[in-house]
Amino acid sequence: MKLTDEIARRRTFAIVSHPDAGKTTLTEKFLLFGGAINVAGAVKSNKIRKTATSDFMEIEKQRGISVATSVMGFDYGEKKINILDTPGHQDFAEDTFRTLTAADSVIIVIDAAKGVEAQTRRLMEVCRMRKTPVMVFVNKMDRPSRDPFDLLDEIEEELKIQVHPLSWPVGTVNDFRGVYNRYESVFRSFSGHTKQTIGEITEHSDLQNEEFKSYIAPHAEKLEEELELIEGVYAELDMEEYMQGKVAPLFFGSALNNFGVKDILDCFIQTAPSPGPVLTEEREVLPDEQKFSGFVFKIHANMDPKHRDRLAFIKVVSGQFERNKAYSHVRTGRQLKFSSPTSFMAEKKSVIEIAYPGDIVGVHDTGNFKIGDGVTEGEKLHFQGMPSFSPEMFRYVENADPMKFKQLAKGLEQLMDEGVAQLFVSLANGRKIIGTVGALQFDVIQYRLEHEYAAKCRYEPITMFKACWIESDNKVKLKDFRLRKYQQLCTDKEGREVYMAESPYALDMARGKFPEITFHFNSEF
Ligand code: G4P
Repeated sequence: MKLTDEIARRRTFAIVSHPDAGKTTLTEKFLLFGGAINVAGAVKSNKIRKTATSDFMEIEKQRGISVATSVMGFDYGEKKINILDTPGHQDFAEDTFRTLTAADSVIIVIDAAKGVEAQTRRLMEVCRMRKTPVMVFVNKMDRPSRDPFDLLDEIEEELKIQVHPLSWPVGTVNDFRGVYNRYESVFRSFSGHTKQTIGEITEHSDLQNEEFKSYIAPHAEKLEEELELIEGVYAELDMEEYMQGKVAPLFFGSALNNFGVKDILDCFIQTAPSPGPVLTEEREVLPDEQKFSGFVFKIHANMDPKHRDRLAFIKVVSGQFERNKAYSHVRTGRQLKFSSPTSFMAEKKSVIEIAYPGDIVGVHDTGNFKIGDGVTEGEKLHFQGMPSFSPEMFRYVENADPMKFKQLAKGLEQLMDEGVAQLFVSLANGRKIIGTVGALQFDVIQYRLEHEYAAKCRYEPITMFKACWIESDNKVKLKDFRLRKYQQLCTDKEGREVYMAESPYALDMARGKFPEITFHFNSEF
């Protein structure tokens, strides 16, 4: 197959949701419909179950399991699908943001009873920033849920994106009959299925058919009325607008009962984008260029503390990746060869010879890689779009074993490269500050420093609200700001200047006094 055909048949996307909305269930059902697994429940979820903070070892264990399920590839008809799973636990939100940089599109799962939840809002912000095409799956329609019209309004308002319902629910709580697929004008019913299997599918395409009407009775009339209403409000879906991330096609369904799953999947493979151009600092890279390029978007530590090696996930951007070929690691200029690159098919990991744009390749890493690193055939390409977001929690980190100073520095550096947390260094006193999204990471870092690097750290509290990357065209004001706020200035790991606001009040004051300075909450403004 030609390179362009391989690219055109690939769909690489991330499934995201607030925990418990049904992301894992939907992913498994995709694999089931794709024939990649026979029974749902076989794939261990990337989900970190509701565990107490102190139970982080359990979480690390689950992260170990999640390596295999971080990416799930399978063939569906002519298409090659790569699902990028994201951790549900909100303490790992940064992981999710980074995974989005490797996704060509996104499916957002929303719980019909709960509507839009906090984490979904933030994830949508990232999609908006990157103009990622988004589809929405409103799950658990079999359970007591909100009125579908109200849900559409809420989703539009909360996610700040226009939605376009391509399926419509039939029936009510305790009498949910399924979804009518407006995109294909079909209603699918299932028989002989369980929660883990699909069973027989019957397709009804004539709404006036008596057999169908009796199947959905007493909801037939209401369905007809509602469909008419929707036709009036939602004209044809504008594919261009979907591609630009302005309109989100939306499907109602119940992943547990199979409803709506094939519907969104079939529409998705037809309409979602195949891998497109990617921006680097130097130029735009097109997927069908002959030379290979790719970037690291995720690094996973080995779960065995005796081996400090890691698994780096590379998204192929252009050309084709080949096993045992020498590639250049752009940041260090080193030549690297990968003798056992892995791909991820369903829940299995296997060594591959070749990979194409859109594919994710797992490579063994002994500590060379950082998140965002480029790998090419020699060209110096620096990939853009790996933003760091302001952490939510901050602590000073101190060396607790004077004999292990070097180990601590090395451990901290590598853990930061992996993206476990962010490290800031105070300009005033050189003290190191760790910033995280959740409290859990502090325990994870301490534990891993001790077990993987034989280093000990302790934390000291610090009052801090946000890390703000500062920018201004006015050099005089910037100098003045630096002088006045010297105590609160830090550098991040790339050496960029960051103002650490102690409180919302302090930030407001700084903004008021220095209107010429822009305060950004992410590093890529
Ligand atoms: P997540 O990955 O987004 O965190 O959610 P997950 O798929 O694990 O689903 C969370 C819970 O919601 C699970 O129940 C799952 O069975 C249930 N669920 C998912 N989709 C549907 C649906 O369409 N309808 C209904 N009624 N329930 C659904 P659990 O009891 O937490 O877990 P389990 O013991 O069933 O695995």
